[in-house]
Parts: sequence; C-alpha cells; structure tokens
Amino acid sequence: METTMIRTRLCELLTIDHPILNAPMAGTAGAALAAAVSEAGGFGMIGGTSRGGPDWLRAQIRAARAHTARPFGAGFISSFPGIDDLVHVALDEQVAAINHSFADPAPYVAAAHAAGVKVLAQVQTVAHAAAAASAGVDVIIAQGTEAGGHTGTSGTLALVPAVLEAVGGIPVVAAGGIADGRGLAAVLMLGAVGAWMGTRFVASREWGGGAWEQHAVLAAQRRRYRPHDGLRPGPRGTLPRRHRRPRPAQRLHRGLAGA
Ligand SMILES: Cc1cc2nc3c(=O)[nH]c(=O)nc-3n(C[C@H](O)[C@H](O)[C@H](O)COP(=O)(O)O)c2cc1C
Repeated sequence: METTMIRTRLCELLTIDHPILNAPMAGTAGAALAAAVSEAGGFGMIGGTSRGGPDWLRAQIRAARAHTARPFGAGFISSFPGIDDLVHVALDEQVAAINHSFADPAPYVAAAHAAGVKVLAQVQTVAHAAAAASAGVDVIIAQGTEAGGHTGTSGTLALVPAVLEAVGGIPVVAAGGIADGRGLAAVLMLGAVGAWMGTRFVASREWGGGAWEQHAVLAAQRRRYRPHDGLRPGPRGTLPRRHRRPRPAQRLHRGLAGA
C-alpha cells in the first residue's frame, strides 16, 4: 500500500520526518519518551522542570542520546525557580532545541542561538505570541485551552490562526486537544506546521508518570462537558466569581510577562 508522508517546514527546521512533537511534560517526559518519539521520526522533548533538577536533566539527556542519534530537545516551565541552571545544562549538552513555557522567552534566545540550539516558545495568547516573535524564537507553540496541564482560555481552533497572523511568518505549531492524525490534519489546514501533543503521550509505555494516570486517559470517554455548566449571572449581569478569577497559571504568566 502506498503511504503518503506529510512533511512541513518544521521537518526541515528540526530535521525530522514527521511534524509531531511530544510535550515536555515536567518530570514525566523523560529520556525514554523523547528517544522513542525521535526514533519514530518526530521530535522528542524531555520535560526538564523536575524535582531531580539539573543532575536529573543531564542524566536524561545522556540517556536519550544513548537510545537515539536523532535530534531531540528539552522544555521548561520557565517561571519556576532554578530555570537558568536547567537551561545551562540543556545548552551544555547540546540538545537540538529548548522550549520555554509560561514566561517571556526573550532572556534565553541569544545564548541558545550562540550555542546552535533552536528556541521554541509555548504561548496561550496572541500578545504573548507577538512578544515571543519579537524576541526571535524559531518556533511558536500556540496552546489552546483544550490542552492538558496549565493552559489559557482560547480554543486551539481560534488561537492558531490568530497567532499565525500576529507572528510574521514564524512557524507555528498547534497544541491542545490533538491526539491523532485527524487532529494533525486539522491544524495543518489552519496553517500550523505541526502538532505538539501531551495527553496522547501520557498513554504511551515510555511515559514516566503513574500507571493510574495512564489508566484514566485510556478509560476516558467523550463525556458531557460544558464549561458554562452551573453558570449563573452575577450581580448586574457580571460573570460569577469563579469565571472572573484567573487560573493560577494565568496569574503566573501575567505576572511574569507583565501583561
Ligand atoms: C501531564 C502533563 C504535563 C505537562 N507538563 C508540562 C510542562 O512541564 N511544561 C510545559 O511546557 N507544558 C506541559 N504540559 C502542557 C503541554 O506542553 C501541552 O501544551 C499540552 O499537553 C497539549 O495539549 P494535549 O494535552 O491536549 O495534547 C503538560 C501537559 C500534560 C498533559
């Protein structure tokens, strides 16, 4: 049977065969997952923000390299303490790319490029995408609110085209709610150059978290879910308190990005 390979400019940029990256899930996307994804032709990412700190990250990078000669990267929750030490390890170990999430990537771009390392930045708003583009990142990950982990409030379908229009030709990868080839095809149609997936990879043998979490993903069904369930108008038509209060990740991001 003839198979069609989907290649995008992300494949050239990261020297991969398939425009798919695993999300750098903190502490649970380790060497095994990153190496497996890269070996399969995608771009593997190690979740560098873990309790193990720089030593753990260095060991994971070396373990991944022992299992694949293909490129892979490391990603960070860049608002967490100790980030500079982790970034230093990633650059020192010469990963192919680093990712910054939940913080302004600008302070990290020059050093990474000087080390020959590409910079990815995961964003949840158009404003943060524009800021990351101005900072000179190589790829922007537009993360819709369908995403597992910390996220924003715009849906992937709406966010990706809006980010594309704001970043002046920088490649945009979509994240949030993508779990299969149909999802990948859908975001490519929006103009994204690839898909970044977290939850789907939780359900893989190489993921380093708990078995109960994997069982929960595997057992999950499409359930009735409406974000506005329970929504009642507040005083004078305002939203009820829980809908006005920013989520912790948004507060964190706003504080750091000064938005
Ligand atoms: C278990 C889990 C842990 C995550 N940890 C991180 C992290 O440490 N750093 C990060 O930038 N994103 C993290 N994310 C978010 C992902 O980068 C990505 O945006 C998200 O998984 C994409 O949506 P999906 O889960 O629907 O594929 C995590 C996601 C999950 C599911």
